[in-house]
Amino acid sequence: MNTEHTLAIVKPDGVGKRLIGEVISRYEKEGLEIVALRMIKLSKREAKGFYAVHSDKHFFDSLTDFMSSGPVVVAVLAGENAISRNRQLMGATNPKEAAEGTIRRDFADGIEQNVVHGSDSPENAAIEINYFFPGIQLVHTS
Ligand code: CMP
Repeated sequence: MNTEHTLAIVKPDGVGKRLIGEVISRYEKEGLEIVALRMIKLSKREAKGFYAVHSDKHFFDSLTDFMSSGPVVVAVLAGENAISRNRQLMGATNPKEAAEGTIRRDFADGIEQNVVHGSDSPENAAIEINYFFPGIQLVHTS
C-alpha cells in the first residue's frame, strides 16, 4: 500500500461556477477520502506564498491575482496513490490538452482559470498541506 495525502484546491472560478459539490463528489467517487476541508479567501500575499515556486514565471502576477480574487476550497485527500489519482481526475493544466471526462476538460475556461489544483509530488504535497493546515491531525474515516 502506498497511502498518500495530497492538497486539492477548488479555485475561485470553480467556486464561482458552483462546482464545489461536483468536484468533491468526483474525489469521493474515485475513492479518495476527504480528511480535511476549509473555505478561505486568500490574500495576494498568501497566494504568492503558495505559488512561490512559480515566482519567476511570466504568469505569476496574473495567477496570484486570480487566486486571491474570490473564495477557494482547500482539502486534503487521502488514499492509495492519491497524488497521481487526483491528477488524473483533474486532467492536464491546459484544458485543451486534458483528457475527456476530466475536471478541467469538463469545466475549465483556460490554462490559468482551470478550476482545480492538486499537488504534483509527495514533497510538494507535504509543503502544501502544511501551508493551509499547519499542525493538523488528519482524520481518517476508513
Ligand atoms: P496549478 O496546477 O494550480 O499550478 C500552477 C498554476 O499556474 C496552474 O495550475 C495554472 O492555473 C497556472 N498556469 C500554468 N501555466 C500557465 C500559463 N502558461 N499561463 C497562465 N497560467 C498558467
